This record gives sequence, C-alpha cells and structure tokens, in this order.
Amino acid sequence: MKNMKQSYYEFDDKNKEVVFKRYDMPSPWMNFLTNGEFFTMISQAGGNLSWYKSPEIWRIGRYPFYLLPTDENGLFVYIKDLKTGKVWNPNFLPVRENLDFFESRHGLGYTKFIAEKDGVKVVLTAYVGKENALIYKLDITSIDDRKVQIFTAKEMANMEYMREVQWEYYTRNSNNITYNKTVDALVYDYFIDAQARPEETPYVFFTSTQKSSSYTAVRKDFCGFYRGLNNPIAIEKGVCPNTELYGGESIFAFSYDLDITTTTQSIYFTLGTVNKKADVNACIEKFKSVEFVENEFAYLTHKWEEKLSRFKLTSGDEQLDRMANIWNPYQVYNVFYICREISYYATGTIRGMGVRDASQDAVSNTIYDPEGVKARIKDIMLEQYQEGKTNHYYYHIEKRPSMVSDRSDNHLWMIYTVYEIIMETGDLSFLDEVVPYYDGGEGTVFEHLTKSIEFSMNHLGKDNIPLMLGSDWNDCLDTVCRKGKGESVMVAEQIVLAARMMVELCKLKGIDSSYFESVYHNQKDTINDTMYDGDRYVRAVTDGGVRLGEKAQKCGKIWLNSNSWAVLSGVANEERGNACMDNVMKYLNSDIGLVKQYPALELNYPTPEEQISWATPGISENGGVFCHANTWAIMAYCMLNRANDAYKIYSELLPDNVISKVGVETYITEPYIYSSNIRALYAPRGGEAAVSWVTGTSTWMNIAIQEYMCGIKPKFDALEIKPCLPEHIKVAAIQRKFRNSTYHIKVFNSDVNTIKKIIVNGVEQKDCLVKPTQDEMKVEIYM
Ligand code: GLC
Repeated sequence: MKNMKQSYYEFDDKNKEVVFKRYDMPSPWMNFLTNGEFFTMISQAGGNLSWYKSPEIWRIGRYPFYLLPTDENGLFVYIKDLKTGKVWNPNFLPVRENLDFFESRHGLGYTKFIAEKDGVKVVLTAYVGKENALIYKLDITSIDDRKVQIFTAKEMANMEYMREVQWEYYTRNSNNITYNKTVDALVYDYFIDAQARPEETPYVFFTSTQKSSSYTAVRKDFCGFYRGLNNPIAIEKGVCPNTELYGGESIFAFSYDLDITTTTQSIYFTLGTVNKKADVNACIEKFKSVEFVENEFAYLTHKWEEKLSRFKLTSGDEQLDRMANIWNPYQVYNVFYICREISYYATGTIRGMGVRDASQDAVSNTIYDPEGVKARIKDIMLEQYQEGKTNHYYYHIEKRPSMVSDRSDNHLWMIYTVYEIIMETGDLSFLDEVVPYYDGGEGTVFEHLTKSIEFSMNHLGKDNIPLMLGSDWNDCLDTVCRKGKGESVMVAEQIVLAARMMVELCKLKGIDSSYFESVYHNQKDTINDTMYDGDRYVRAVTDGGVRLGEKAQKCGKIWLNSNSWAVLSGVANEERGNACMDNVMKYLNSDIGLVKQYPALELNYPTPEEQISWATPGISENGGVFCHANTWAIMAYCMLNRANDAYKIYSELLPDNVISKVGVETYITEPYIYSSNIRALYAPRGGEAAVSWVTGTSTWMNIAIQEYMCGIKPKFDALEIKPCLPEHIKVAAIQRKFRNSTYHIKVFNSDVNTIKKIIVNGVEQKDCLVKPTQDEMKVEIYM
C-alpha cells in the first residue's frame, strides 16, 4: 500500500510541527537545532549529534551516519521504573523497550518525544535557544506514586573526528572529564597540542536542574564490558561509580533519583559549551535556573514568529501554504549554516563551505537575515583571486587551506546574492565595503563582482562562450574540458543574467555601465546565434566538439539547465523560451519533477575518451530528478507567464506529494524538507530520494514561491508585485515586510495571465512597483 503515509506522519500546521507516529522510519528524519554557533542534528527516533561551530574540529560526541545500528548514538535519557524494573527511553532508542504510546514531533528549533509506559508519561523536549547549549526538558507524570531513576548518557569522544579515526592511540590521552561538585556538573576538556584552533576550543559541560545521585565520565564504567548504550551495566546496578576521566573512552553519565506522582515534574538537562575556563562555573550556574532554561525556549518561539512574519502566504492550497510559511524558510535557515557539510548523508569531515553552494544558499536567506548574508558574502569573497576566479571549498572556522579548483561558475553566484542584498535593503554602501583578495590586495564588493565577470570573459573558448574549466554548476560535467577546450552554455547564460544585474547596479551607483552592457549583448547574441538548435539550447560543447543537448545526439538530446536558464537570463525571446520549455515539459517531466536530461547518458557517451561522469541511468545527475535544477524551471515558467506549468513542477516536487505517489518506504527521506535528488521512476528503486537537507533546492524553491509564483520581488525602492499563481487559487493573501513597511497584498486570480488592475491604499496605480510609503500598505491585484 503506497499511501499508508498517515501511519507514519502528519502535519500539525497550527503548531508548525510535523508529527511522527512511529520511530522506525525508512531513514532518520532529521531536525537541526541551532542558533548558528551550536548545533544538534536529531532524528524522529532521538539519535543525535552536537557540535560547536564546526563538526570537523569541535564535534561533541559520535554519530554512526550510514553505519549500523541506524541512528543509535547521542544524548539519551533513560527511565528506570523501580515499580516494574523496566528500563526505557521516551524516544525508543537505544534500549528499544516497547512503549505503550510513542509520538515525536519536529518543530522549529526543537524536537519533542511523547511516550507512555506502564502508567508513566513522559514528554521530552530537545531544543537549542539563544545560548550555545542543547537543553532537554523532561516532563514526567505517573498514574500513581512511585520511585524511578533517571539516567542520562552522552558518549563524548575526541572533538576532531578525523584525528580520532587516524590517531586515537595518541589522542586518547588528551581528553579529561572532571566532576565539578559545586555545580554538580561534568566538564570535558580537549587539550591535544596539535589541534586546529586550541585557543578557541570550548569546554563542554553537562548539568541539570535536578541534583544528581551519581555520575561517571568513563565509558566502560557506565556501559560495562561488551555492552553498549542499549544495556548499560550502571543502569542495571542502579548507580554510576562516580569516576572522572583522565584519558580514554569518555561519557557524560548521571543518575537521578525521583519520586513521581500524578503531578507533572519538570527537569532540565543541559549539554553546553563555554569558551573560557574562568567562566565555566558561572555558565553552568545559569543553566541550573529553571527560569533561564525556560526563557531559552520562549526565545525560540519569538525568533521564529519574527522571521516567518517577513513573508506569509494564505492561498487555501494547504501544501503550498505549509511549505511557503513553515518548512521551506526553516530549511533555508539551517542550510545557510550547514551548507553541504553535515547531515545524515554527509559526515561533517571534508566539505567545509562551498563557494558556489554557500553563495546560493544565502540568496533566499536575505529576506530573513540581510546582515548575516552580507557577512557571509564578504567571507566568500575572501576566496576570490585578483583575476576573478575563486577557490571551491573553504574552511575559515577550521583554518585549513582552501580547496583550489578552478570552476567556470563559482565566482558568478555571488553576483546574484549581492544583487538580492541591495534590492532587499536599498543599502548601496555595501557595494563600497572593502574585502581582501585571496592572493593579496583588496577591492570593494563591487570590484569583486566586476572581476567575476572579467574572469569569465577572459576565459572564453573557441565558440566565444566560457570554457567549462573544472566544471560548471553541474559537477558531473567535469570531464568536458580535460583538454582545456570544452565550453559551458549554462555559464554563458549565467553571465547574461549577471551582466544585466551589474548594469542595474551601475545605474543605481551612477557610474558607466557600458562594459556590462557589451558583455550582456556579446554573450546573449553568441548563444542565440550558435547554441540554439531549433527548439532547445545546447548544454555544453566538449573538447572534441560534441554539442551536448542537441537533437542529433544519441543521449542527452535535451538538458534541463540550458533551457531554463535561457529564459531566466533573458537569452531566449518569448518564442524560443516557450519552445524550449514546451520541450522540457514534453521530454523531462516525470510526474515527480523534471529529470535532468533525456535520454540518460550511456556508458562511453559521447566517446570512451570523453565519457561523462557516470551514474546508473535515472539516478541522481544522470537522468534522475535533480531537485535543485527543477527550481529554475519553475521560475522560467513564471517568466513566460505559464502559471499552471510552474505550479505543476512546484507541486510535483513537494516531498509530501512525491510520497503520496511512491510511498514512504520508497521515497525514504523526510516529507517536510527537500532532498537533493530523487531517482527517476524508471530507475532501479525509482522514486527513492537521497541527500536530504543539504541541497540548493531549498534556497531556490523559496525564491520560486516568493518572487516568481507569488511574484513579489524586492526592487531598489519598491516591491514589484506580479503574481503568477495557478488557476485553482482564486484568492491569495500575502503579507510581506519590506524595509519599514508591512504589505498586505490580496490577489484576485480570475485570469492567471494578465494583471488587470492594481490598487494601492485605495488608489489605482499603473505599474506593479509599489513603494513603501506608509507603515501598513494595502495592495489589491486583480488578474
Ligand atoms: C551538488 C553540489 C553542488 C552542485 C550540484 C550539481 O549539490 O553540492 O555544488 O552544483 O551538486 O552538480
């Protein structure tokens, strides 16, 4: 039965939560709890991992990722019921004792487990508020008076995970955990000489609002021999041996003795970090105050109300509203910090921040956190060379050398982000801020962007379009330019859009824009004159001259990106744009989104020497549904005024909708956030999604719904309002904050294609640019 999803999960939109009715999902369905510095990744079954700033160097504990047993590590709370003798966890893991009732919920910044066993009811809420700490609130009630013991355990390990894997036999001597009696806390100190940034390595502590009855910091003293977190000897004995750790395998473990009754008692447990030794006690003391830890939760509620009030959609389409108002902004926020570094699918050991990925992730975060995005883009610009190219990955927190790899697109993405910042904030002075180059010297933000364009224009191939270099956005085109001749049409299209934005920025600055205008025309004309094949645009040209994406090709006769970007960039006129996007729908649509190219590439295509990076046909970047690439097609359909087509692709991609078609057990990843890719239906295990959370799908889907489908784009001194909503939405109400005004926009959508009338604060207006003239702006649009 494909549609048994109701037995797995449901949405509780009123509380902005997703509810899980069982713990054994087909994969860990994660939540990220973070204030941007302290992070916890936690699943519906309670497996979790925390880190401070970087999971590479300040990881707190261990997590099995793809290893068995699935999801089974983290901070765990155990209940030992002295009436029944049974030991259980409110989140099922790791003891796996059956519960009489289980439910868990992911909310914004917190995860809740609700469990009952033999008359004892527990609500366990995990959250990260303003401070660098993971707080667990345990509410416990019983149908009668009884005694229980609570145990808490968190395996600690080395902070630098790779160093641990490679050098454990030395590093095991440089971890200490001591018991601090004054504050009843265990404090972890990682003091390996050669670590990345010793002066900034935090102390980690564990404490509670409840007085403990025993503790241990030695893993074997808690677990026993040949036992694990699932059957610890200390719980069997009912006591931890009060041992500190001086090197070796570590744990934070405590016991608490409790009399429980029909009145609910609340206990708070905190796993936190503190940077200076002198501050350790004072910091721990704070978390022993019930008022303080409760305020941490209140902070979260307020933070999310504030963020989500920037854009709110009420369209009557439940799926659309849910994604636009809750989960997509939430994914945007988290991905802004984690980039591609860590998730159930990425081990947090190597990816750092990617220039290309981080630039894109920032675009959609601009509406919520413009200052954070400005800081991020300046950080990214530190990776740019004077000639305009950038490094590929960088590690500013870890202070590791950047990954040097010349790609044809990396440096271009920051132009769109800066453009978005200027339009959202109206702050032109940002363009004059000075940022050093990677190889010496410095330049203003505007100069950095200019160099991006210049680099591409200085690296054109024989067809007068940019060389592919190490790859463009599509990492799998890395073999196209091994001899230094292959070219990328997508990058040429990116330049056209970027140049258009630069022209606009020049005009706002009051400076000459002729260079960018000439780039714009040069690339636009070249693409139209040489890379158009009747009803589609070529995707790339290989070293040997094979024109990927041409009709005459055996495989990949049509590629998604070169066609959507032709529209997005303004390269294609209306006629060509429509022809291309008709073909996209005809050849690439698959009922669960658009596949990346058709037909999928075969082994040895185009030739054995030029073989393109290969995956089984229908999987991931080879003819699979690569979600990130779908987002630009949705925008392109909106630009062509094809509201129903845009909505079709948008709604097909919604994870909850894919699950309705293929089933939870086939789709396997989370229903509330986007995954990077879904196997095409014709592929083995068709409909299976992978690499959830860490994907650029998130940023662009949010832009697609806000700026294209709802059609609300920030412009320098106004909001542009041009809705492109599908015909089944008759009326939509949108709240959008812009500068110091709140816009209340109502769209009457009786004809999806034309705007008939726009009334602003009671007065009819000619164009769609609505200036923020008063605190509350009332806009009515009749279609
Ligand atoms: C992955 C990479 C991203 C790349 C995309 C397409 O998502 O993180 O950088 O653009 O794949 O290849």
